[in-house]
Amino acid sequence: MSEKLKRIGILTGGGDCPGLNAVIRSVAKSAMGIGLEVVGIEDGYLGLIQNRMRVLTYQDVSGILTLGGTILGSSNKANPAKYAVPDGKGGWQIQDVRDQVVKHYEEARLDAMVVIGGDGTMSGAAKLISRGLRVVGVPKTIDNDLWATDVTFGHDTAVNTASDALDKVHTTASSHHRVMVVELMGRYAGWLTMHAGVASGADVILIPEIPFKIESVADRCYQRSKVGKGFTIIAVGEGAKLEGGEMFVDHIVEDSPDPIRLGGIAKYVAKHVEDLTGLDGRAIILGHVQRGGTPTPFDRVLATRFGFHAMELLATGQFNRLVVQQAGEITSVPIEEVADKVRTIPLDHQLIRAARAIGTSFGD
Ligand code: F6P
Repeated sequence: MSEKLKRIGILTGGGDCPGLNAVIRSVAKSAMGIGLEVVGIEDGYLGLIQNRMRVLTYQDVSGILTLGGTILGSSNKANPAKYAVPDGKGGWQIQDVRDQVVKHYEEARLDAMVVIGGDGTMSGAAKLISRGLRVVGVPKTIDNDLWATDVTFGHDTAVNTASDALDKVHTTASSHHRVMVVELMGRYAGWLTMHAGVASGADVILIPEIPFKIESVADRCYQRSKVGKGFTIIAVGEGAKLEGGEMFVDHIVEDSPDPIRLGGIAKYVAKHVEDLTGLDGRAIILGHVQRGGTPTPFDRVLATRFGFHAMELLATGQFNRLVVQQAGEITSVPIEEVADKVRTIPLDHQLIRAARAIGTSFGD
């Protein structure tokens, strides 16, 4: 073990997802097991900026394996290198508050820190590493879009939730002979829509990686109705876009480092399919329900393995690395390697080819 390691911090950053508590539990119990003190940092980087931390006891991290959300709280706004503060004129001013963060980290006598988060959190971590903080990252996100890892925890649970919703709309779609368009999260990557869509046999899958033509989508719905398939299920990722078009932006969160919030594509598709075919269309936006609930056993196991490996890295003095899964093995890569990158679905991915082979339309 690294000689100086006595006290570690842990935080959860970015949008929450099922399995965060399972990682906290795994890191904290492994750390306590070798005599380390564990400090929980509240609300992601915000707690570091505002100096809100508390020592975690064994009781704090016991009984939380199956609990959704995060006992530490999270924030997808506070990036210490690009922190938005009110400018006094109703707007925001971006400040670099890393000096403040370094001060709080040192005052708390942290020897290293585990940051659990997605691309935004890892980009933030890279900026803190350059100021001398020792960090190990653990990849979370329902979007599954983090560079260098084949999978992030939280994704499997979100796929289950999304797939359950797609399964359920089948019956009402069938009863009313409708085109049901279900909008799923995932930001700029289609993993969640692709996995849930294939798992639930969606007839049309629209993902950011494959721009679509609304006429092709409408034609598929119409053709299905002509051969007696009275309904069509469309799974659409919030980041999907028309050929030559832009993503649908729902609103802007001014004080967020990644201010764009996507949304609105399902309504567009449902309305235009209705106009082009005369079929009845309905849009459903699944929203944040995809981030909630109890983690699946898959996510609990992954979270436990990730958390344990984070602790192994710390204990052996391997800092500034991100725990990843590659080809089934839990390993790690330098955090800097993943900062500011998004892992989208390769167009020749076997799942896209499989879906096309069984007749799924991508609207292209
Ligand atoms: O990254 C996770 C995610 O849920 C995305 O799928 C979605 O686009 C975004 O976060 C929503 O962010 P917010 O919680 O700020 O609305």
